[in-house]
This record gives sequence, C-alpha cells and structure tokens, in this order.
Amino acid sequence: MKKGSIWVLMALLLLGVGAAQAAESRIPIKLTQTERDFVLTEMRAFLLAVQQVVVGLSGDDMQQVEQSAHKVGMHTARQVPPLLKQKLPQGFKRLGMDTHKRFDQLALDAKQVGDRSLVLEQLSTLMQNCVACHEMFRFELESVK
Ligand code: HEC
Repeated sequence: MKKGSIWVLMALLLLGVGAAQAAESRIPIKLTQTERDFVLTEMRAFLLAVQQVVVGLSGDDMQQVEQSAHKVGMHTARQVPPLLKQKLPQGFKRLGMDTHKRFDQLALDAKQVGDRSLVLEQLSTLMQNCVACHEMFRFELESVK
C-alpha cells in the first residue's frame, strides 16, 4: 500500500473523532461516570484496532489484520452491562453492533481471502459508522442524586 493511503486513513479517523466536538446538535446520552468510562474504553479499543489493521495492511501481514480486528468483534459487545444497554438509544446500539460485526467480517475475510484491497474497502466502510455515530451522539454525565 502507498504511504499516502495511510495518512488519508488517519486524517479520516481524526475527522471522525473531531466532528464529534464541532457540532452541538448531537443527541446527549446520559450515563454514570462508570458507564461512560466503559464505553470510552471500548472506543479506544476501536481506535487501536483500526490503527493495528492499518499497520497490518501496510506490512502485508494478514494475520495481524485478522487478530486486531477480531479483538473488537461481537464477543466484546456481549460484555456490555444490561443496565447500560437499556440506556443506549436503539440507533446507537444498531450502529455499535454493526461496527462489531463488520470487524468480525473483516477478520474472517483477512484470514480466508487475504486480499488487502478488500480489507481496505471494508475498513473504509466500517469507519463510516465511526463518523456517523460521532456526529449523532455525545455522552453526558447523569447528575448525582
Ligand atoms: C454507536 C456509536 C459509536 C460508534 C459506532 C463509534 N463511536 Fe466512538 N464514540 C462515540 C461517542 C458517543 C463518543 C463520546 C463523544 C462525546 O461524548 O463527546 C465516542 C468517543 C470516541 C473516542 C474518544 C475516547 C475517549 O477516551 O475519550 C474515540 C477514540 C472513538 N470514539 C473512536 C471510535 C472509532 C475508531 C470508531 C469506529 C471504529 C468509533 N469510535 C465508533 C460513539 C460511537
């Protein structure tokens, strides 16, 4: 892969996270500190996975791609506490689940097909979820009772 593609990816990623800070039309989701920390930890795992997939792609290391993507697959979504799940809007959960599923699919195809351009396409598609969700939602701390 060309070096330039990696920078384009990274710029897209920063835009995705940055967009969350620009507009304040985002829907607030009220969470406790612990719940927010839980989701943000998941988010940082997403970011790490994207970065590691890109590293794998640039080194033509499909095993690295597969393993990094698998780390944020559907199995992590099942660890979400039930109470937190109840607080998350339907649209948020749908985008979140779809993102986990797409990482699983990417991992599977990296292993079975092993085509870098396919992985890159899958990564760029799943990252539309990052951007879309960040544009739509933000977290707010529940006021302490
Ligand atoms: C289902 C919705 C959703 C999806 C999908 C999503 N995010 Fe997030 N993300 C959020 C929200 C909401 C925040 C908090 C924004 C705020 O409160 O200002 C956040 C915050 C983050 C943060 C900041 C973490 C911190 O410690 O402050 C990072 C990094 C991040 N997301 C990366 C990603 C990446 C990379 C993807 C895609 C692979 C992604 N997110 C997909 C909703 C989502």
